[in-house]
Amino acid sequence: MIRYFTEDGSEDTVNARMEGCTDPRLAEVMASLVKHLHAFAKEIQLTQQEWETGIDFLTRTGKICSDERQEVILLSDVLGFSMLVDAINNRHPAGATESTVFGPFHVADAPIRSMGDSISLDGKGESCLYSGKVLDLHGEPIEGACVDVWSDNADGFYDVQQPGVQPKWNNRGRFLTGKDGAYHFVGIKPVSYPIPDDGPVGQMLEQLGRHPYRPAHMHYLITAPGFHKLVTHTFVGGDAYLQSDAVFGVKSSLIAPFEPLQGAATKWHSPFNFVLTPMDAR
Ligand code: BEZ
Ligand code: FE
Repeated sequence: MIRYFTEDGSEDTVNARMEGCTDPRLAEVMASLVKHLHAFAKEIQLTQQEWETGIDFLTRTGKICSDERQEVILLSDVLGFSMLVDAINNRHPAGATESTVFGPFHVADAPIRSMGDSISLDGKGESCLYSGKVLDLHGEPIEGACVDVWSDNADGFYDVQQPGVQPKWNNRGRFLTGKDGAYHFVGIKPVSYPIPDDGPVGQMLEQLGRHPYRPAHMHYLITAPGFHKLVTHTFVGGDAYLQSDAVFGVKSSLIAPFEPLQGAATKWHSPFNFVLTPMDAR
């Protein structure tokens, strides 16, 4: 039967055209997307003007992207979509460290540093000793784990946001654990900072009455043979933005202690253990 487009059942008319799709997962994803997209327009009775505004917004969001800037992921982040995809794909067993959003500021192949080294190269900020262990689900140390860390500097910027201003690899480094699974390094106590808000996503946040700030955090990417990779942060307890992170990345289990160190060269100490999930446990 020939099926012409009508408002009623519009999604079925569109999805019926996918019968020739030979990739079953693609067909499933697209059929669901069409179903929800059509339901969205019907639910809110989308006007032509609003449709044009949406198209203009998405066009500007795409156009501002470059090798250095990913505004589409930023849009996904501020809509909580990145965290939802992360949650769906990281259902780890109880006891494993929770994951959170990766963010755009990781740089692959950071220098491998010696245990105890400082990653703060610009001399700014309040120094902090980070220490702990990388463990398996039974509390046994993991040898040969790579603890890749990165944070903003005391002015709230990552080195890649200020080339020529900050030293290359400022507040970044990789540390390899030994038999005891332990890591320790010196960084700074990070500060809260706004996500890039000078583009369409920033304008949208402003129109929605939302601020662009993330609570202060240290990023971690931890890998070890035989274990799932862990992408996470530790957050500075007491930060003013913990309950309103612009990208919804905070989990209570990731709020770390930052304790003052009396009479030591470093001002703060942040102890935190990471627990990885073995490959065969999920
Ligand atoms: C970050 O923490 O580096 C980040 C995460 C999501 C969007 C922007 C920045
Ligand atoms: Fe960050």
